[in-house]
Amino acid sequence: MEVFRSLGSVRSYIKKCRLSGESIGFVPTMGCLHQGHLSLVEKSNLQDNRTIASIFINPLQFVKGEDFERYPRTESEDLERLSHSGVDMVFLPEESMIYPAGKVLTIAEGKISKILCGFHRPGHFDGVLQVVLKLLNLVQCDRIYLGQKDYQQWLLIKLMVEELFLETEVIPCPIIRESDGLAMSSRNRYLSESQRCLAAQFPKLLKKFHDYSGSTSTASAEEFIFKDLQKKGFEVDYVRILNSRDLSDSEDFSIPGNLRILGAVRLGKTRLIDNMAWGEQ
Ligand code: PAJ
Repeated sequence: MEVFRSLGSVRSYIKKCRLSGESIGFVPTMGCLHQGHLSLVEKSNLQDNRTIASIFINPLQFVKGEDFERYPRTESEDLERLSHSGVDMVFLPEESMIYPAGKVLTIAEGKISKILCGFHRPGHFDGVLQVVLKLLNLVQCDRIYLGQKDYQQWLLIKLMVEELFLETEVIPCPIIRESDGLAMSSRNRYLSESQRCLAAQFPKLLKKFHDYSGSTSTASAEEFIFKDLQKKGFEVDYVRILNSRDLSDSEDFSIPGNLRILGAVRLGKTRLIDNMAWGEQ
């Protein structure tokens, strides 16, 4: 596994892969790696000749008052994990490399980035799109692998790739969960023992939307689940049941996978997100 910290070394590596006709799979991350991240690497290893991962804690996607400073930085553990994962190259850029001082070109999306997590974290998704666009232009990958845990992020990156005619395929990867159902996340390590115990109720209560299907409107199902979560002790940012394709409003339970429940809750300072499709067990 090669570890690069400069743009030049990444560019020459990509050139070599291209010259030898090897396909490139790309897994962008912010580090503090767990099995969720590694599942993306595994998928890329199966599909592409070369797998590149990046670790960069992108300041632009943290909104004011968020946990940028305390976001876990675990570089040596991450590199150790990646060295056993089949990744061919890891890119670890400095902030000044990605965002040179004085450069002000920005990217913004005006619709999907404003709802759900985008409503509660204004500017977050524009920061994500900005860094992912830069990384995609740099690594010129055939495929980018993204987790559906961050469903809205995946959808927005897919949109950006389509709208900007980027020559890469966006591959969605399933959510990897702990044995009690909690979606794996770098932020789970902030949870106290009792919060961690309670956190397992989050996916369980979201799953309840299967009980309401058809018998009631999505709005009242959302309300029931919202209240259930509050009763358990979660501070709820949102619970929405929306069209999986574009996160628009929908009541159509007739096609499996058409509807998706998405939620975000807080336990103390820790924010958890999750989602599942109608028909998914
Ligand atoms: P990060 O939170 O580190 O996640 C990196 C990738 O791992 C994302 O595609 C995310 O959806 C995926 N992932 C995280 N937990 C997962 C789980 N439990 N199951 C499956 N996939 C999971 O998402 C980001 O970083 C950043 O926003 C980034 C795209 C790197 C841009 O800065």
